Amino acid sequence: MKALILSGGKGTRLRPLTYTGAKQLVPVANKPILWYGIESIVKAGITDIGIIISPETGDEVKSKTGDGSLFGAKITYILQDQPAGLAHAVKIAQDFLGNSPFIMYLGDNLIEDSLKQFLDVFLSENLDSLILLKTVPNPSAFGVAKVAENGKILELIEKPKEPPSNLALVGVYFFTNIIHQAIDRIKPSPRGELEITDAIQYLITQQQNVQAKQLTGWWLDTGKKDDLLDANCIILDSYLLSENQGKINGKTKITGRVSIGKNSQLINCTLRGPIIIGENCHLEDCFIGAYTSIGNNVTLKDIDIDHSVILEGSTIVNINQRIVDSLIGQRAKISLAPKHPHALRFLIGDDSQIELM
Ligand code: TTP
Repeated sequence: MKALILSGGKGTRLRPLTYTGAKQLVPVANKPILWYGIESIVKAGITDIGIIISPETGDEVKSKTGDGSLFGAKITYILQDQPAGLAHAVKIAQDFLGNSPFIMYLGDNLIEDSLKQFLDVFLSENLDSLILLKTVPNPSAFGVAKVAENGKILELIEKPKEPPSNLALVGVYFFTNIIHQAIDRIKPSPRGELEITDAIQYLITQQQNVQAKQLTGWWLDTGKKDDLLDANCIILDSYLLSENQGKINGKTKITGRVSIGKNSQLINCTLRGPIIIGENCHLEDCFIGAYTSIGNNVTLKDIDIDHSVILEGSTIVNINQRIVDSLIGQRAKISLAPKHPHALRFLIGDDSQIELM
């Protein structure tokens, strides 16, 4: 059994962060999203992992994630020269996959359920494909499955106007090598991509044994800002442990679970966890509220922030309004000029979003 993680793509919905980096490396609770997927695959006992990368962000994914030794796995990188669809990614990975059955895992998805239980069903029932489903309130935004009572998939429909169920296709799939024949038979969709839903639909039409299982835990697709903030909340809620490797001065007050990295310094701050703070941060006269993740080398002075993710190397100083629901990119600088407290002065990247409330 092998695994194929898709970490290419355009990432248009997470611009401007994806102009300078891979969306799969954006941290959730200070760890790249991609790494959660790798860890959960290794936990299921699969250590031969291929990762699809793009020409734009592939080098960064490779240099951060390495050869797999960090995870007890062997990682092979596979370059997809353009984001021509999920099934296209499988097609170009054929040399790596050979005849092996495999898990395909979208590199910006996170699931709570362990993969092992689904892998056991896939192998013991000799399925051609096992797909995972999750009930969602807005099925029209997803690939949706029509499922018979015995769990057999009847039909898959991509972003249906009138969804036949509220069961969305989660970004984790199990396939035998028969999927390659299906991919060879399908044509690009109207958006120009080779769609994995079309390939699975082909298997269904050919009476192959395609089954579905429903997730019981959470599923997070971190492709957009608010989804990423939700993922940050859930991961902090579920896994964060209190730990202090930094320095805290006497007037700092901490309640709830807070993790503080090496060489970080907190002076006169109030923190209400869950919060994670990376290494070499300087926080002074701040209120940091729940569900906030602060990357390494961040400076915060005189600010009040909650439910936000601040990436590495940013500086935020002297803002006299609360900052909420924010995702702040690497090395960003936000400050209030004392001489002109009512004027706003910006240097903002393309596709940035600023809401003054
Ligand atoms: P998507 O989120 O569907 O696509 P995208 O990354 O291009 O994002 P956007 O819609 O915001 O432009 O992709 C799901 C995952 O699969 C994601 O981790 C990127 C990856 N992917 C590939 O590796 N190759 C591809 O051809 C595509 C379409 C996606």
